[in-house]
Amino acid sequence: MNSKITSISALEILDSRGNPTLRAYVTLKDGTKTSASVPSGASTGMNEALELRDDEKRYSGKGVQKAVENVNKKIAAALTGMHAVDQKDIDYTMIALDGTENKSQLGANAILGVSMAVAKAAAVSSNLPLYRYLGGSNTLRVPVPCMNILNGGEHADNSVDFQEFMLVPHGAPNFKEGLRYVAETFHVLKKILKDKGLATSVGDEGGFAPNCASNEIAIEFIIAAIEQAGYQPGIDLSVAIDSAANSFSPNLDNKYELTKSGAGKMTTDELIDLSGEWLKKYPIISWEDPLSEGDWDGFAKFTKKFGDKIEVVGDDIFVTNRKYISRGISEKTANSALIKLNQIGSVTETIEAVRMCREAGWRYFLSHRSGETEDTFLADFAVAMDGGHLKSGSACRGERVAKYNRLLEIEHELKGRSEYRWK
Ligand code: PGA
Ligand code: ZN
Repeated sequence: MNSKITSISALEILDSRGNPTLRAYVTLKDGTKTSASVPSGASTGMNEALELRDDEKRYSGKGVQKAVENVNKKIAAALTGMHAVDQKDIDYTMIALDGTENKSQLGANAILGVSMAVAKAAAVSSNLPLYRYLGGSNTLRVPVPCMNILNGGEHADNSVDFQEFMLVPHGAPNFKEGLRYVAETFHVLKKILKDKGLATSVGDEGGFAPNCASNEIAIEFIIAAIEQAGYQPGIDLSVAIDSAANSFSPNLDNKYELTKSGAGKMTTDELIDLSGEWLKKYPIISWEDPLSEGDWDGFAKFTKKFGDKIEVVGDDIFVTNRKYISRGISEKTANSALIKLNQIGSVTETIEAVRMCREAGWRYFLSHRSGETEDTFLADFAVAMDGGHLKSGSACRGERVAKYNRLLEIEHELKGRSEYRWK
């Protein structure tokens, strides 16, 4: 076994929205060759690590040729000869080479692509599945699939302000059954929307994107779908929401304008009151970004009110960055962090963010991006991190389903020893 890196390169490929992204390749001395592809967000937090884009005419300035060149030249030169099993050394070598706070020199897309491809290569070279290589021998917990079945916000051109309405099959006995519960409900929801004469076309993450008369009607359709599919709301399936409140807070502060639905302007307190009404009426189990990334006080107020009942998840406010997560822990801003590899830009730093959540008694919620590829790294990573739940979009669109299918495969491989539970 020799995990010495002999070559590193990259290629510009397309993501699920048809925008360029980066695929990195790593070859080892023992002949192992792996690749990894980098996802890309649309409703991004201000403090995310920088995705390096070309700023030229091709692809409306979205090309990643500079990032590709950074991999081919600078990163390859720095890492060739290092051992793929030394993930932390490799990631911190790239971080030092970049030298900026937000990876703007080499590009977080360049660094993350190589970081993931190195982890995959080390796993292959160690003769272990990726989840086992990253998580250790007792890695048995397959996450609850939080399936985004109705899209709004910046992920769909419709009249729904809140970005994601997810189904959470916490009452299922295992992942396979959980996936069945949510996929069946997805199909029932399609029929409900069709019968009402609403669009059944899908948004970026594969959820339906109907023009609902209000945000509340969206959630009522979902509850109806759960019941008509033969499941009990709150027992078999609950709902998780991602408001992605940045997208309706023009200055990313404590002022909100729900323009898509026509609900109008709202203050932090009004938005919290609205959430309180929904929490009384509907089986909501988790709420992500209920307020914008600049509204730290509002977030803490929300958590104080509802944090003992539900998971309060910070995405754009924490951006998988320990600097912001640690502030959140000390200010009791939330009780969970969304975890996205490309928000911080390396495998090691993502693991460190997860560790920080765990040590604080917080939960963490593994996540894809709205721009994805067929790469299934996230599925193995979610199992390895033992977090208990992940979101990877809906029951359609190949780049979403690929991750769920990989989780089915992992559960199958674990031959009855797998674990499945919400908490
Ligand atoms: P994004 O959305 O990938 O477009 O940033 C996902 C999310 O907000 O959770
Ligand atoms: Zn989010």
